[in-house]
Amino acid sequence: MLLGAIPAAQGGTAGAGALRDLASQCAIWIGPAVAYGPLLGEPPYADTLGREFSILTPENDMKWAPIHPQQFVYSFDRADALVSFAGKNGMTVHGHTFVWHNQVPAWLASGSFTRDEMIDILRDHIYTVAGRYSGSIAAWDVVNEAVNDDGSLRNTLWFSRIGPEYLDLAFQFAGDADPNARLVYNDYGAEVINAKSNGIYDLVSGLLARGVPIHGLGFQLHITTGGIDLQSFAQNMQRFADLSLELYITELDVRMQLPVTPERLAAQANVYAGILGACLAQPACKAFQMWGFTDAHSWVPSFFPGFGAALIFDEMYQPKPAYDALAQGLGQCATATANSVFRSKASATAQ
Ligand code: XIL
Repeated sequence: MLLGAIPAAQGGTAGAGALRDLASQCAIWIGPAVAYGPLLGEPPYADTLGREFSILTPENDMKWAPIHPQQFVYSFDRADALVSFAGKNGMTVHGHTFVWHNQVPAWLASGSFTRDEMIDILRDHIYTVAGRYSGSIAAWDVVNEAVNDDGSLRNTLWFSRIGPEYLDLAFQFAGDADPNARLVYNDYGAEVINAKSNGIYDLVSGLLARGVPIHGLGFQLHITTGGIDLQSFAQNMQRFADLSLELYITELDVRMQLPVTPERLAAQANVYAGILGACLAQPACKAFQMWGFTDAHSWVPSFFPGFGAALIFDEMYQPKPAYDALAQGLGQCATATANSVFRSKASATAQ
């Protein structure tokens, strides 16, 4: 596929009131995970994406299996196309992800490599991928989901073949390859103060104490219309911010039990608004990112049977109450210049 095959969004500039314009007043990025297929094949997908958002995350195309399918073969076409689309539409990119236990290619998962060989493979992969996109990537999820619910390190292929040092190594390699990207640790179920977020706190504290380049913490936030404890989320964000880490909401979606009802849509809007409010109240929160934007393309129905409709546009690309709630929340930044919370956020520079 040629890089030029995906056009810039029709209309060029974002319309007044688009989420990206409102978010820039709050000094945060806003955007979704993006899939290559609909970007190529469904014009409303590209139009909505380019109009509304300032950052995108490749949903799958920078993961190890898609981008490095054989030991000496990389497959960059799709990732290149997403990065190109972002550039043409004035968006930045959140890279996802170098080290994860899922979507690992067979050659790597079943290969019998020594510890040193695994380290060489990890270094080559990160140097190659991070190096290729250096300059286009605002932040990289260097390590994804390395911690168990009890706070211990997950026994992944990286852990079992390299040992816990794989985390230090991954961040060091990423820092070498792209010194300008924010390097992020990303995980789910660690939004509130619990055993898992305690374990992650200890993990990143150790990385920082050893001088490892890590700059951010990503909260995935795959949640339900039941929401989360926002007070505990705020406290948890604060303790990571106190380590001088930037904070990213990386994969928010708010799934509901099907069928969709007006009450469930209202509850969902309330949850989106609450998460946004927590981000806006925390100066270290740099991005509000969702795992998709249209219910036409979401991982939720296949991974959470009986649930769906987790995103802010419906299957016909019409904005849902959750969209309106975000627009309203972001709109407060422009009109709240007298409010010190918003003033301190707006003085932070989201580059
Ligand atoms: C999911 C994608 O959305 C699916 O298309 C894919 O089949 C599996 O992975 N946490 C993550 C993401 O960090 O990479 C996952 O994405 C969702 C959970």
